[in-house]
This record gives sequence, C-alpha cells and structure tokens, in this order.
Amino acid sequence: MSTEIINRTKVFVKEKLSGDSSGHDWWHIYRVWNMSKKLQEKEGGELLVIEMAALLHDIADWKFNSTDEEGILLIQKWLSQVNLDQSSAQRIIEIIKDVSFKGAGVKDKMVSIEGKIVQDADRLDAIGAIGIARTFAFGGKFGNSMHDPESNAEMHASFKEYKKSNGTTINHFYEKLLLLKDRMNTQTARKIALERHQYMEHFLKQFYNEWDNVK
Ligand code: ADP
Ligand code: NI
Repeated sequence: MSTEIINRTKVFVKEKLSGDSSGHDWWHIYRVWNMSKKLQEKEGGELLVIEMAALLHDIADWKFNSTDEEGILLIQKWLSQVNLDQSSAQRIIEIIKDVSFKGAGVKDKMVSIEGKIVQDADRLDAIGAIGIARTFAFGGKFGNSMHDPESNAEMHASFKEYKKSNGTTINHFYEKLLLLKDRMNTQTARKIALERHQYMEHFLKQFYNEWDNVK
C-alpha cells in the first residue's frame, strides 16, 4: 500500500518538475528523498510521512507558484487522490508549509521529527558542490548577476524581504548557504553539513583569488 502511494507520487512529481532549470528539478527531489531516508535510519520518525513530504516539498514552493495556497491545494488534492489518511496528510502539509528557508533573521519553526529530517535533507542539498551548482543555476534562471564586489549581502529580517530580494548569487552564500550548517536540526545532518560547508568556503576563497588575480 505505501509502496504504491510512493511510486505514484514519484511519477506525479517527476512530471510536474520536468523541464526545471533552476536547481529544483526531479533530481533535487530524488536526492532529498534519498537523504531523508538515510537520516531517518539514524534519527527515527515515520517513514511514509517523511518520504511523502520529501517527494512533494517543492511542489508548493513560493518560488514557482503564484500563491502558496495554490500549491498547497494541489498537494491536498493529490494526497486525497492516493487515499492517504487525513491525519498523515495533515502532517505532510504542515511540514511542507514550514520547510523553506525564510531569511537569515527568520527563525525556523519545524516541530516534528519527520519535518526536521526533510528540512535537513533539503538544506544539505543547498550546500556543498551540488549546492554551489544549484545556486548559480538559480541565479542565472532568475536573472541575478553572479557577483558584484560593490554590492553587499543583506541579512533579511522577514520572509517578505527575503522573497523580493534579487541580489547577486555570491551574496546568496552569505544570506543563506553559509548559515545552514548551524541551522541543521539533527546531529546526523550536522556532521554531513560540516564537510559541505568547508567545501563552500574553499570555493569562495578560490573565487575571490581568481577575481582579484591573486595567483
Ligand atoms: P528552500 O525551500 O529552503 O528555499 P529549495 O529546495 O527550494 O530550498 O532550494 C533553495 C535553493 O534555490 C537555494 O539553496 C539556492 O540554491 C537556490 N536559490 C534560492 N534563492 C536564491 C537566490 N536568491 N540566489 C541564488 N540561488 C537561490
Ligand atoms: Ni527543495
């Protein structure tokens, strides 16, 4: 029963996100889904809720829908179509609403272990080598410039401010990516995040060296 729900959801998500070039394609979902399963082995939590939230987490993303409500409605419709019980469906929806990063100055409020795991898995995919690649893909897709030494990073104090920002991709490292290692929920993810974080620091150092012709 749950295998069938997962398989149908996989097909649904794959179809919905096909053609994305902003780093939110099917393979991002696939990596978050796999990482969530790996974290669950160590950290616990109900597997079906975790897998479904991981698979559906970007369907309702504000970056792609005209309104958040529109995306949530789409997910609700899907969950009833696969006959998922009301209580699991509600838990999945709550996770998806809270999963996104909402600004450097905005506190995370994920409460369930299932949500904490999916959030960690999503954030692990935002850092390290893949995180770097996704960020530049996103910046290009949305028309942001790569780097401008004269523009400074902004610590967004509200989700509204964060949402409307169109700063440079390098600034996004300071506005989000480099903050993530200290915002992991689970011990297991924190460990993985550390190595990916160091890789990004190394990348930035090299980037500035090349920019300034240091060596
Ligand atoms: P979240 O829900 O936490 O935002 P996502 O899975 O939607 O996580 O992916 C967010 C990723 O999208 C970021 O890690 C980054 O790679 C990219 N992204 C989002 N906003 C920007 C931005 N302003 N500049 C560059 N990349 C961005
Ligand atoms: Ni995501």
